[in-house]
Amino acid sequence: MAAAKRHIVLLLAVLTVFPVQAAQPAPPGASSCSGCHAPTGAGDGIPGLEGLDADRIVADMRAFRTGAREATVMDRIARGFTEDETRAIAEWLASGERHDAGKDDAGAQDAEP
Ligand code: HEC
Repeated sequence: MAAAKRHIVLLLAVLTVFPVQAAQPAPPGASSCSGCHAPTGAGDGIPGLEGLDADRIVADMRAFRTGAREATVMDRIARGFTEDETRAIAEWLASGERHDAGKDDAGAQDAEP
């Protein structure tokens, strides 16, 4: 019994560090995206990011950052990330390994009033 418990604890520890088996850990800031861009496509007029490739996300973020593309909030968000950080986030999002992202830090904001 104690051994089984230890295995569960170990499993949880592994899952915490690697949310999806062999998935890359989320780069800094990436989990914040899913607070608005829900993995399933939230509605509320916010476009989903699934299926977008990394280059497209980087290009969009650059356009938001420079003001080339009009935005309500993404201009400010995009300015919070360097090109390299944006690239890391975009590649992670495009890899489709984000299902567990935002579980820790976006849940509270997502709750309906
Ligand atoms: C506060 C909510 C919010 C957060 C957080 C957020 N976004 Fe957005 N995003 C939006 C909205 C709203 C739009 C539509 C453009 C606008 O009005 O700013 C958008 C548009 C986009 C688009 C363009 C999609 C398309 O199909 O045209 C991309 C790419 C994008 N966001 C990437 C990101 C990334 C990457 C992050 C995390 C670093 C992020 N967003 C975080 C709200 C958000």
